[in-house]
Amino acid sequence: MNLFTTIAEMRAASRAARQAGRRLGFVPTMGALHEGHLSLVRAARACCDAVTASIFVNPTQFGPTEDLAKYPRSFERDRAMLEREGVDLLFAPFVEEMYPAGAVTWVTVDELSSKLDGRSRPGHFRGVTTVVSKLFHIVEPDAAFFGQKDAAQVAVIRRMVRDLNFPVEIVVCPIVREPDGLAMSSRNAYLSPTQRKQALVLHRSLARVEKLAECGERSAKQLIAAGREEFSREKLSRQELTGHERSGKDVFAEVKLDYFAIVDPDTLDPVDDISNGALVAVAALVGSTRLIDNILINRSNP
Ligand code: PAJ
Repeated sequence: MNLFTTIAEMRAASRAARQAGRRLGFVPTMGALHEGHLSLVRAARACCDAVTASIFVNPTQFGPTEDLAKYPRSFERDRAMLEREGVDLLFAPFVEEMYPAGAVTWVTVDELSSKLDGRSRPGHFRGVTTVVSKLFHIVEPDAAFFGQKDAAQVAVIRRMVRDLNFPVEIVVCPIVREPDGLAMSSRNAYLSPTQRKQALVLHRSLARVEKLAECGERSAKQLIAAGREEFSREKLSRQELTGHERSGKDVFAEVKLDYFAIVDPDTLDPVDDISNGALVAVAALVGSTRLIDNILINRSNP
């Protein structure tokens, strides 16, 4: 695997690969890799001749009070994992390479960028679309691989690619979960053992909605109420803790629901009825860790 830290070297290497007639797949990441990331690499390898991955903790997609400074960084471990997966080219630029002094140009997908996570994290998607379009210009991939885990990110990137005519196919891969259902995320590393258990409420709420939908419930209002109820129960079970449990070191954190929404997966607008398919998406703070999860219902999953 060849590692590049400069744009010029990266561009030359991926152009050489494409000129040799190889179909180039691209997996952008922020590192702290887990099986979710690796599933994208495997999908890329399955349908491309050469695979480029990137590791770049993109500062512009973090808000001023978010976790940029403490975001987990494990470059050597990540690099070894990508090498084992057969990645051909790795792009890992420094911040100054991607954002030289004086950079003032942004790529913004209006409207969509202020829905779901964009609503709670103003400016987040502007940072994502700006860095992803820069990466697309540098790597010039034929296909780029993203996880359904970040469903709103998928909608925003798909729209950007369509609106700006990027010559790249967007491939979306299913959510990879821990055995107990928690969606894998680099941020799971922040959770204490107790918070890790509490975090399961996200998956539980989605599983409940999925079951109700399978039993014929079509009303988004009813389904949202059922999903939210799981969060109220989580709160109750915390209040029922004994004093002893409460005084333990690894205390129960507050689980604060950010949103529980049922929306059209492309427009991210709320739907009233799920008959034509819908995205059920949830975001919550477990202590200070923001987690997200989602399911697609009545739609063929990616
Ligand atoms: P990051 O959070 O590192 O995720 C990189 C890719 O891995 C994203 O497409 C994400 O959806 C996917 N992914 C994460 N967890 C997953 C899981 N459990 N199952 C399947 N796929 C999963 O998303 C970003 O980085 C950044 O916003 C980025 C696109 C790199 C731009 O900076």
